[in-house]
Amino acid sequence: MSKALRLRSLVLTSALALSAGCSDFDSAFVYSERTTNLMPEAQDGFEDAPGVKRLVDDKFGNPQQLKAWLKLPVDFGGSSATVGEIVADAGGAKVKLVAVEGVTLPESAKSLQFVSGAAAGQSVGITAWDAKTGEATLASLPEAAPVAGDACSVDGGEVLKQGRVLYMRHCSHCHGSSGDGNGPTAQYLNPRPRDYRNGVFKFTSTNDLSKVSRDDITRVLKYGIPGTYMPSFLLMEDSEIHAIVEYVRFLSIRGEYELKLVAELTGDYSVKALESRQEKRSEIVDELKKFLKEDMPGAATGAGDELAEQWTAANTEEARIIPSVPRVPDTEESRRKGRELYLSKTLNCADCHGIDGAGNGPQTMAFEDKAHPITGVKYSEPGLHDAWGNLNQPRNLQTGIFRGGRRPIDLFCRIHAGIKGSAMPSFKNTAHEDIWHIVNYVLSIQFESEPGSAGVAAAATPAPAAGAE
Ligand code: HEC
Ligand code: HEC
Repeated sequence: MSKALRLRSLVLTSALALSAGCSDFDSAFVYSERTTNLMPEAQDGFEDAPGVKRLVDDKFGNPQQLKAWLKLPVDFGGSSATVGEIVADAGGAKVKLVAVEGVTLPESAKSLQFVSGAAAGQSVGITAWDAKTGEATLASLPEAAPVAGDACSVDGGEVLKQGRVLYMRHCSHCHGSSGDGNGPTAQYLNPRPRDYRNGVFKFTSTNDLSKVSRDDITRVLKYGIPGTYMPSFLLMEDSEIHAIVEYVRFLSIRGEYELKLVAELTGDYSVKALESRQEKRSEIVDELKKFLKEDMPGAATGAGDELAEQWTAANTEEARIIPSVPRVPDTEESRRKGRELYLSKTLNCADCHGIDGAGNGPQTMAFEDKAHPITGVKYSEPGLHDAWGNLNQPRNLQTGIFRGGRRPIDLFCRIHAGIKGSAMPSFKNTAHEDIWHIVNYVLSIQFESEPGSAGVAAAATPAPAAGAE
């Protein structure tokens, strides 16, 4: 195994703590309602068998004390290095660091985090730093002394810390400090700010089953979401946007990890499940304890692995929607073809968006046979709902305002992948050429001289040929 690879696998198993030192932030992340709907023992666990809350905090920490779970594909910041030589003296300790292949050590450095070995997870201040030789003078040496070869990170977590500071300033009043979409401003907004703790993002350039990519979140930050209160942050530096994107990913993966853990317990150990169980409570508690001790650690590792894999995959070429044919020229014929497909029984866009695209199809008036994702109560209002339990109206396509962007390729992606978490389905099995016809039609609706004219002036009806019936 190469040195770089070996290091990587060491890094994967450890978390490093970053202290914040800011007091104006919420001191704790909010747990999902699905967690607080569990019986208290499942939430809090036992001394030797952590429950959901501790399992999540162990990996992600809290706003004051964030943790970087290095196996996740989040750029936490920091330069990876290994400990070369250690010279302890009365005034502290000098450690010579060797940069990992492909990494340049920074010009200035404030702290050193140990990632593997006896001191793993500990962070110490750097009082003097020589970038050329990699020599760091430490304020103190961790009690469990590091040895040569241990993996470490210089200024680890800097990106995440910067991301949090910016997020708290620009985003949290709408999206909440935990990303639950429930900041103080949220109650006044429609649509509501996104709760991204379920890992679902609507406007992506990735396939219907893939997660959101970094570029997708970046685009939403730069251009906002037209027609909603989500503002544009185009004036931010790229490095600031990058830090916020990584923080959004961090919050989102945290939320999803929590939901995965809860899913292991909801069936048997929610307050509701408890009501229907026949056994004595003490027996159920013993059973839960055994489960948390024996089965939960494996489930938690599996959940982390799965998330790391999915969030990594979303940034690869394979996840991206790439049309197999270039855009079909936007002609009258193409628009008409698009409209036919739109009205066709197979695609039936009109069932939701209405025959003229006004967003008023029959499905907006029907009662959905579905229940709210958290309360489990069947919807009593007509219309479609999204994964967050909000009423989800099909877009009025006559306005020409497209939340996921108005470039033809944006609309191609919306139709190909659907809008994740919403009632707008994926049409990935439709021929790409046909999707382009539909895009041409959809983009033309706003210019129609009269509803249904497919964006072109009503053509004169050809005179019937002589002798025709
Ligand atoms: C004034 C309120 C407001 C502020 C401030 C705000 N947002 Fe939003 N944001 C929204 C709303 C509303 C939506 C949902 C729009 C929708 O459902 O179509 C949203 C949606 C999003 C989405 C989801 C995009 C998708 O594809 O699903 C992301 C990501 C996001 N915001 C990130 C941020 C970040 C990061 C910041 C700070 C830099 C921020 N927002 C600031 C209101 C806000
Ligand atoms: C089952 C209902 C349903 C069907 C069928 C449906 N849509 Fe949608 N569509 C929606 C909903 C709901 C939204 C709004 C989603 C959101 O933003 O949360 C939407 C949004 C859209 C948008 C807006 C994209 C944006 O960026 O704002 C377009 C364009 C669109 N649909 C086109 C189509 C086309 C074309 C078809 C047929 C090929 C279709 N839809 C079929 C429900 C549907």
